[in-house]
Amino acid sequence: MDSPQFEDRMSKILFPEAVILHRVKEMAAQITKDYAENGLAKDPKRRPLLLVGVLRGALLFMTDLARRFPIPVEYDLISVSSYGNGTAPGAVRLVKDLERPIEGRDVLLVEDIIDTGYTIEYLRSSFIARKPASFRVCTLVDKMARREIPTNIDYTGFVLEEDEFIVGYGMDYAELYRNLPYIGILKPEYIE
Ligand code: PRP
Repeated sequence: MDSPQFEDRMSKILFPEAVILHRVKEMAAQITKDYAENGLAKDPKRRPLLLVGVLRGALLFMTDLARRFPIPVEYDLISVSSYGNGTAPGAVRLVKDLERPIEGRDVLLVEDIIDTGYTIEYLRSSFIARKPASFRVCTLVDKMARREIPTNIDYTGFVLEEDEFIVGYGMDYAELYRNLPYIGILKPEYIE
């Protein structure tokens, strides 16, 4: 079998594809159990859980997670961007909003990675203001070493203790490597 794509550019493959997919399956099972048994689904109109993926990093995780739910789910997508240098730290800009209102819905926000915490807290405020029935956060990777503001994460795939530059499975460096099926640490010589 061929080596995984771009493997020579990685100092380490942290999470191979099979490990990621196994964890995603476990997360879907846990989320299903919580929403089905713990009465979290409070939407009076009985609409299903709404997954909201944060573009663009969460795209691969979102699609793998979504197809593993045995319960009905709907999904929507939102896109935000961090402002560059010279603005307030952590300033986040809305690039593409949700297609539909979330009032009264059970909403689960799906992220690929939580780093400083600014993006998720911006989204949390924005979503809570729209009065969902419930709001929870799910991330594949929690990069705790880089946290700048406190944030609550309900479902975490993997915790990254070290501040390592990871790519793959949605995560990029200069827009490259997003489509790798694994998550790896990029060798320093490939970072400008
Ligand atoms: C990444 C990631 C989160 C955000 C987390 O997105 O997908 O949305 O950064 O960082 P924070 O906790 O420091 O706010 P990015 O801005 O790289 O855009 P992308 O999803 O298009 O890759």
